[in-house]
Amino acid sequence: MSSVPDTEPFDVVVLGEILVEISTEQAFGHGVPAEMGISGDALNVAAAAAGAGARVGLAAVLTDDELGAAITERVRELGVSTDLLRYRRGQQGVYLVHGDPDGQREFSYARSGSVGSTLGPEDLDDDVLRSAGAVVASGIACAISDTARDAVHTAARLATRFVYDPNYRPRLTSADTAAEVLTDLAEHCFLITPSFPGETEALLGVATAEQAATKLLAAGCDTVAVTCGAEGVHLQDASGSTWLDAVPAPAVVDQTGAGDALVGTLTARLVLGDSLEDAAAFAAAAASLVVGGKGGTGFVPTFEQTRAHADSHAGGRSTSNG
Ligand SMILES: Nc1ncnc2c1ncn2[C@@H]1O[C@H](COP(=O)(O)OP(=O)(O)O)[C@@H](O)[C@H]1O
Ligand SMILES: [Mg+2]
Repeated sequence: MSSVPDTEPFDVVVLGEILVEISTEQAFGHGVPAEMGISGDALNVAAAAAGAGARVGLAAVLTDDELGAAITERVRELGVSTDLLRYRRGQQGVYLVHGDPDGQREFSYARSGSVGSTLGPEDLDDDVLRSAGAVVASGIACAISDTARDAVHTAARLATRFVYDPNYRPRLTSADTAAEVLTDLAEHCFLITPSFPGETEALLGVATAEQAATKLLAAGCDTVAVTCGAEGVHLQDASGSTWLDAVPAPAVVDQTGAGDALVGTLTARLVLGDSLEDAAAFAAAAASLVVGGKGGTGFVPTFEQTRAHADSHAGGRSTSNG
């Protein structure tokens, strides 16, 4: 589909599936009280990018009922445009999560055949994708259905800057398929953000963050940010590599969404004109604040909060060229 956008271009467009989260504090069972949340990696990334100051659109498919309306309201509340949301008859994807106090988490998904996984190339406006500062998608979007994977490939071809987070989920796809998708997309990518060591080992078959980055650059990607959990981030492009220490988290309540916050913030700040090192420092600061909230959007820092947190931990970078 193609039309002339009648609004200002987005800084960042995110593609993916929004999920309803049902979380319990006790083990799953009949009568266990639960809390409803609205989540999914695409929403977390979009919220982080909006928090970081970008004008953000979220391309996702929702049900055409009260639940779809409630999810739309949450998207709006997070400062993300609802213009790219599409609605159709179907069932909303859901996951149940039980997090116990020692940090173990138990997940159960009901998302196959969901309305969100019907996202396809015809749901996207080519001009919106072309005009956006960056377009972001993940391995989850590629794994939920063939049409969603086609949508991601379409976006990768059209986008000026395409950002891909491999987000490998063994319950949704095999390592071989996820690796193939990553290799196919790499040449279109402005930025790829694999996690070490889970994704770098499973999808790239390498032992270090640097080897992973080198391999993805050789496949045609411009910049790689390998996220290394509470340790930090390895950044690499044609000009060399930089190690960035993680920013100490004021509180760790829930690791969910650290990677999503990093991707959303990094993308937003790059589009808004920051250098790679500055954008990544803000991204690490935002991620370290997000782990203090429950779920991926339990706490989304404003850019002022992120900047203050980053400034209070400046340093921790080491650069090597070549
Ligand atoms: N416990 C933590 N404390 C501070 N920063 C963290 C913590 N966990 C993650 N981060 C930051 O978030 C980034 C992404 O986290 P990571 O766990 O690697 O991603 P993912 O969620 O994709 O597995 C890290 O590179 C780091 O900067
Ligand atoms: Mg990740």
